[in-house]
Amino acid sequence: MFNPTYIEQCVLRRKRVFDEIGVHGIAVLFSASEKKRSGDTSYPFRQDSDFYYLSGFDEPDAVLILDGATRETILFCRDSDPEREMWEGSRYGIDKAREYFKIEYTASINQWQKHVKELLKGHRQLWTLNRYNKEKKLLQMWHDLYQPHTSQSLPESCMNLRTVLDSMRLIKDEVELELLRHAAKISAFGHVKAMCVAAPKMYEYHVEGEILSEFFRHGIRQCAYNTIVAAGKNACTLHYTNNESVLQSGQLVLVDAGAEWQNYAGDISRTFPVDNDFTPAQRDLYQVVLDVNKKVIGAARAGVTYESLNNLSVELLTQGLLDLKLLSGSLNDNIEKQKYKRFYMHSIGHWLGLDVHDVGGRFEHGQSIVLRENMCMTIEPGLYIPDDVDIPTELRGVGVRIEDNIIIHQDESEVCTDYVPKEIDEIEGLNQ
Ligand code: GLY
Ligand code: MN
Ligand code: MN
Repeated sequence: MFNPTYIEQCVLRRKRVFDEIGVHGIAVLFSASEKKRSGDTSYPFRQDSDFYYLSGFDEPDAVLILDGATRETILFCRDSDPEREMWEGSRYGIDKAREYFKIEYTASINQWQKHVKELLKGHRQLWTLNRYNKEKKLLQMWHDLYQPHTSQSLPESCMNLRTVLDSMRLIKDEVELELLRHAAKISAFGHVKAMCVAAPKMYEYHVEGEILSEFFRHGIRQCAYNTIVAAGKNACTLHYTNNESVLQSGQLVLVDAGAEWQNYAGDISRTFPVDNDFTPAQRDLYQVVLDVNKKVIGAARAGVTYESLNNLSVELLTQGLLDLKLLSGSLNDNIEKQKYKRFYMHSIGHWLGLDVHDVGGRFEHGQSIVLRENMCMTIEPGLYIPDDVDIPTELRGVGVRIEDNIIIHQDESEVCTDYVPKEIDEIEGLNQ
């Protein structure tokens, strides 16, 4: 979907990249390619996140070059081709691409190799993201250009553009925040639908279908990741996506589903009873996770470290496990010896943006990263009780995760996903 406001931001982002790479730098980025699924059918196309971040251009077979010397951008893209477009749908073509995407120069993708050889001359650093085969081809071209005894000035070093883009993508601008809020809101609608329809004897994929239908009804074309609908002990498999079991009376069902809106991700988990009500044991376990979810969200704000939030989740969940008698001994000993990891094996959350596990890392200058205004992250405490003989029967194979999406501010964080209930009485009241 063409979003002119996003394109304006792309122009500003490219200016920041020019500032970073300097007059001696040249950056080359490649679009994603269409991927074959089987025979002559393809997976739905998804643009490369970094390429999209700097161009807003959503077609395959494209190359973006940022020339630090001129501070101009060149986009190589597919030519208009009425014959192919009749089969595959319309393309921007080189003229419209220049106009719509506010790029100084555009040219046919067939020309990129010839041009890039010329463009490399006169720059000292080549900046790339070293991921696809296309980058390897580019680096090979750069090596091949070196001839002994020539006086050509070619880049002497290849620099990692990740270092520039990761720190930019970590702090979201207002346009991105609006897209993330929308992705979160539609993701929430999908979860409400799941809570309303789930019932004994349904298959997990029936619930998945209802979530997708709700997403599609709101204009979503793809999920941000594969949907998890995990009934009973399936919830203890963290990346369960099989979704082929039958929901049974008395079970909890854990749903982790997120809509992707204009390439920005929502990522919500909720856990609720297949019947209307939690059993007393499920209720106690759920309440522990819910309290941790709310306390960590309450603590998240600019100036605190990621590590402090993670430690808080470990401390509170471990205390909860002691209260539930799933652990014994002292709080400190259980934390020190990481005994909680039997039940809580992931961390409190991750950055959210163009990717569901967005770029940015958790450390800076060797220390835990400090949260800053307009970072976006998930808060997702969970407890996953194995189906083992030493566990009280009523808690065997019960998994609970409650995941929200938040934007960091100076004071309280903004919860983008509170359209979907998480309090016990709200969930139980939904189908009354
Ligand atoms: N849905 C993936 C995650 O929660 O990290
Ligand atoms: Mn997540
Ligand atoms: Mn998730």
